Amino acid sequence: MAPLKLVSSGELWIRAHMARLPFFLLVVVFAVAPRDASALTRRDFPEGFVFGAGSSAFQVEGAAAEDGRKPSIWDTFTHEGYLNDGSTADVSADQYHHYKEDVKLMHEMGLDAYRFSIAWPRLIPDGRGEINPKGLEYYNNLIDELILHGIQPHATIYHFDLPQVLQDEYGGLLSPRFIEDYTAFADVCFKNFGDRVMHWVTVNEPNIETIGGYDIGSEPPRRCSYPFGENCTGGNSSAEPYIAAHHLLLAHASAVSLYRDKYKATQGGQIGITLLGWWHEPATNTSQDAAAATRMNDFHIGWFMHPLVYGDYPPVMRIRVGDRLPRLAEEESAKVRGSFDFVGFNHYLILRVQSAEIDSAQKLGDYYVDAAVQNPLQSIAEGQIESPPWALGKLLDHLKLNYENPPVIIHENGDGDAPDTPSAIEYDDEYRSEFLQDYLEVLYLSIRNGSNTRGYFVWSFLDVFEFLFGYKLRFGLCGVDMNADGRTRYVRSSARWYSSFLHGGELRPPVHSDRPYVV
Ligand code: NOJ
Repeated sequence: MAPLKLVSSGELWIRAHMARLPFFLLVVVFAVAPRDASALTRRDFPEGFVFGAGSSAFQVEGAAAEDGRKPSIWDTFTHEGYLNDGSTADVSADQYHHYKEDVKLMHEMGLDAYRFSIAWPRLIPDGRGEINPKGLEYYNNLIDELILHGIQPHATIYHFDLPQVLQDEYGGLLSPRFIEDYTAFADVCFKNFGDRVMHWVTVNEPNIETIGGYDIGSEPPRRCSYPFGENCTGGNSSAEPYIAAHHLLLAHASAVSLYRDKYKATQGGQIGITLLGWWHEPATNTSQDAAAATRMNDFHIGWFMHPLVYGDYPPVMRIRVGDRLPRLAEEESAKVRGSFDFVGFNHYLILRVQSAEIDSAQKLGDYYVDAAVQNPLQSIAEGQIESPPWALGKLLDHLKLNYENPPVIIHENGDGDAPDTPSAIEYDDEYRSEFLQDYLEVLYLSIRNGSNTRGYFVWSFLDVFEFLFGYKLRFGLCGVDMNADGRTRYVRSSARWYSSFLHGGELRPPVHSDRPYVV
């Protein structure tokens, strides 16, 4: 008889489970070991996750005075010479004439989706009333071409390009009449394109359009009041940003109600809004700056997210802005609350925030004084741009924890470069690929961590006119020779990388590997 051997209970447990150990180990490895993020492929993202790239009408189309299009406030602004280099978007990348070539490029790149916007002054040149048949034809053609190539059209209805005529007639966003005209424009879009467009964005970045246009006055319609902005011809920085934002919010909700009541059942699409998603971090480790950064995130993100999710502006804004912050009537609040199937976020950078003492002599503040912070835009003006990829994770966590984890689409993320010679042709933009890889890695981890993000769009598909910077700042995966009459397109290395990823390759392929980009 073999001698009895005393064994510990742990050893007994191991012996008893020995037979199942390989299986057990396998399960443990899959359950706890984080996926090696460097070896990620698109298959690691959730089923149905959409990868795309984007542009907007004013920035990409050109053909500014062709086929019945009339000026937007951005045409006026650029023609008045407000850009340092005097550039306009009259021709830009000329997608109006090159859309077929562009869609072919998108297809070869492997995009699931293209995000573009519909120019109100092209479709309804007088702002309301008659539809321009040539405008209708152009967007029908573009949408058909995308679908023919298996690319989902994601259409933004309003991307900053307000018809100038509505600005002149009633002050644009400052009047509630904007809501009615915008809703009629949206109706034309749903009616004519909604059989093929399954993803609608009502408004792009209302949380910065209103600051640029109505607080600091650096953008059209250039409204501001001293000392918050200078050289404006009129305006009230203490009140107008909030009024303009209120009308954009109500216009958004009105278009969503219209879509849900009249079109959704037959067309079956989804509708949302896209916000600028800067992330605010404290400038120092003092508790004052920590509180200031929190306030700034509430002013920047909560300004729209709070009403969209809870039906009213954030309490911190109510308290600090007081009566200058418009009220949402009960019926309006009900209409705004839940008025999205997804929320788009454009994420590029962080801003460092410093708390500011309120100057009691100053009776009225602007948005930044209301938030009791030093205006953080100064750092952007000085070229101090910080883009740490972890900030995207913080933004997505913030949305998950504070706004009931809404479905999110990252509608813009990208790296702009400002070469010394703006027209220089640049093929090798490895830095851009690395930038995007870093962000996609963070996005993957955020999704694993519970974020409800469903899509990611690179800004931009190709070089376009950049608001305020003209052609000096380029974001394109594909380049455009802006000096060539034919606006020749060319493929950058970032486009090759994105293409290899979209075709199933690794997120970080070994450098110099052959990439299966087909162009
Ligand atoms: C946000 C805007 O939506 C887009 O029009 C702009 O070009 C990019 N950010 C880059 O600044």
